Amino acid sequence: MDLPWGDERTRKFITNVGLITSNGPKGQNIMAAEWTHHISYSPGLIIINIHTNDATYENIKGTKEFGVNLCAVDQNIVSSIAGGSHGQNVDKIAVLKELGYEFYAGKKIKALMLKGAAMNAECKAVKKMTLGDHVAIVGEVLEATANDKAPLAYHDGKYWKLGEQISKPQQDKIDKIKQLVEKHKK
Ligand SMILES: Cc1cc2nc3c(=O)[nH]c(=O)nc-3n(C[C@H](O)[C@H](O)[C@H](O)COP(=O)(O)O)c2cc1C
Repeated sequence: MDLPWGDERTRKFITNVGLITSNGPKGQNIMAAEWTHHISYSPGLIIINIHTNDATYENIKGTKEFGVNLCAVDQNIVSSIAGGSHGQNVDKIAVLKELGYEFYAGKKIKALMLKGAAMNAECKAVKKMTLGDHVAIVGEVLEATANDKAPLAYHDGKYWKLGEQISKPQQDKIDKIKQLVEKHKK
């Protein structure tokens, strides 16, 4: 079956927004990708899932590298701009610069990196797989930094910031769970 965009079941997912920077045949570019996930500690690997008609795809195909800039809570406008047009038609980096957003040169890759993101990772593309209607690209992290800003959350087609932390269960509940885990050990 399909799980289309906007479907009530699709809308239950909560994701980060990865702002994917690249610099290749389509020039310096940035796109928004909610399908950006950390999938390995050692080595550090990040997977992104993008469309073959994205300028970002052409850039990564040409250079085998990309930047992951995890959108911070105060950068939702960057996500809307990066996700709102294609790099072959619009110089989105120039639009963002004119709005006052700043970039720095990647240390290990040729793409620009977004200043003030919650996390920045410079990646070398090590694997590519067509999965359904998108292509998954695995990036090995070459360089990464984080700052104290919270990451933006994306859910139900809207941007959110994380709110209340869920409190731990009462100690008697924790003890009961431990007992049950012991009892049901295989
Ligand atoms: C919040 C948000 C999340 C998005 N997530 C994805 C994604 O995970 N994969 C994808 O292919 N497109 C995603 N898009 C759409 C792309 O960002 C959009 O197609 C963009 O124009 C591609 O840019 P490019 O052609 O310059 O690479 C998302 C858009 C927004 C606004």
